[in-house]
Amino acid sequence: MNVENSVKQSQLIQNYYQFQSTIYDATRWSFLFGRKLIIDKIAEVTVPKTIVEIGCGTGYNLKNLSKRFPESKIIGMDVSKDMLTIAEKKLSSYSNIELIESPYGELDVLGNNQPDVILFSYMLTMVNPEFSNMIQQAYKDLIPGGYIAVVDFYNSKHKWFRDHMGNHHVRMERHLTPVLEGKFTTVNNKVYNAYIGTWEYFTYIGKKS
Ligand SMILES: C[S@@+](CC[C@H](N)C(=O)[O-])C[C@H]1O[C@@H](n2cnc3c(N)ncnc32)[C@H](O)[C@@H]1O
Repeated sequence: MNVENSVKQSQLIQNYYQFQSTIYDATRWSFLFGRKLIIDKIAEVTVPKTIVEIGCGTGYNLKNLSKRFPESKIIGMDVSKDMLTIAEKKLSSYSNIELIESPYGELDVLGNNQPDVILFSYMLTMVNPEFSNMIQQAYKDLIPGGYIAVVDFYNSKHKWFRDHMGNHHVRMERHLTPVLEGKFTTVNNKVYNAYIGTWEYFTYIGKKS
């Protein structure tokens, strides 16, 4: 990865979530759709030994993953200390969850924990222009035959909405799917409407060959 871009991006995100972490759980349920659905999609293809969620935030998915896969090792990685502090409090009673504070891809922090599933939930549309490198990195980090699982914003036909989301560092231009399909063998790829077509989100499961 381009280290300079990556450091700048990480700093931007850390600053953004200093405040946003305080209202995250109270607000995101109303627009981050498909987060339970992507766990159903993972369960349709595998029962993972080790799952890593990159950009796990306040731990919403980690909790649901732990309930769905109680025998799996579940690792959440995030660059924002503020988000992880909330996750830590929420998840203290879940013994199969581990949290790592790190930007993804810069350091080899996974060690021997080579995952069979890597989940990106509403994370890749926020890392610009690094999303492509992160998808390549996930391919490297997965075991052969492992899966990438993505749920994220897809597109909006309304420029005002795309601009509004851009102010929150989110790019919604259908740009993730071609990169995912170029690297992984597609198992699931589905687009859904939100709020009568104000925007679309998508789920994607891809297999490393
Ligand atoms: C919109 S939140 C999604 C949180 C969680 N996945 C969810 O679905 O609720 C995006 C998260 O990605 C994290 N993030 C952004 N860039 C990152 C990077 N380079 N490495 C690790 N985490 C990152 C942010 O700190 C933030 O917690």
